[in-house]
Amino acid sequence: MAKTVKDIVEMKNGGKKISVLTSYDYALAALCDKAGVDVLLVGDSAGMVVLGYENTLPVTMEQMEIFVGAVSRAKQNALVVGDLPFMSYQASISDAIANSGRLIKAGADAVKLEGGAAMEDTVSAIVETGIPVMGHIGFQPQTTALSQGYKVQGRTVDAAIRLIEDAKALEEAGVFSIALEMVSHEVSKIISESVSIPTIGIGSGVNCDGQVLVVHDILGLYEKLKPKFVKQYLSLSDDVVKAVSNYKDDVEDGKFPTEENWFSMEKGEYEKLKEKI
Ligand code: KIV
Repeated sequence: MAKTVKDIVEMKNGGKKISVLTSYDYALAALCDKAGVDVLLVGDSAGMVVLGYENTLPVTMEQMEIFVGAVSRAKQNALVVGDLPFMSYQASISDAIANSGRLIKAGADAVKLEGGAAMEDTVSAIVETGIPVMGHIGFQPQTTALSQGYKVQGRTVDAAIRLIEDAKALEEAGVFSIALEMVSHEVSKIISESVSIPTIGIGSGVNCDGQVLVVHDILGLYEKLKPKFVKQYLSLSDDVVKAVSNYKDDVEDGKFPTEENWFSMEKGEYEKLKEKI
């Protein structure tokens, strides 16, 4: 049975850390699910690592629906959370509800949106429709990147207090968990201890209730950005380049394909054909 939002919340109560990885396509999602991650987050980071945009801003609902659909068809055990892309929920609450519904229809079990106290009414409205919401505070790629660039959040007392209030406002609004991106580890610890729902950190230290990373980063598949908070477990880009150049050499040298890779006519048919032509 696949995990539910309730299972994820209970992991915090049971003191069990929550593993989250981004996923965007069927094949990789199936492997991450098989490896046992608790949550597959179909992040709008797809815009960068899959679609090659400079940032997440150009990502559309239609693109997110395709990614969410692929991941949801692959999952057996994990909870699938779909990211609401830039401008799919900020303009109005009715947009937010309609677009959350679209991601659920595409296969997500829950949605994620960026923003703290300012998003309280939007979150409550989505939750009231029955759609579980994950919050996202700290560095917010859809907005902080525009105003401040990539910058650690919560390093001063004022900034820390704002973040703690944001987390409490989101909890009050009904989110089932909150992603904390690039928040100083001291503030992440305070937030994690002050809310009853799980915090999922990315670059926010070990005291969060769970961790999330971009799957391309842990596999070493995306070479454009290497944030300090990433732990790379494989260097797949090197292996891919090696494998592809071996393939190219084999094609050029006539070493591929061989008999084990091709198909033959039925016995005796070739000889008959040759007589005819
Ligand atoms: O889009 C994304 O990948 C995210 C993160 C929290 C990793 O929002």
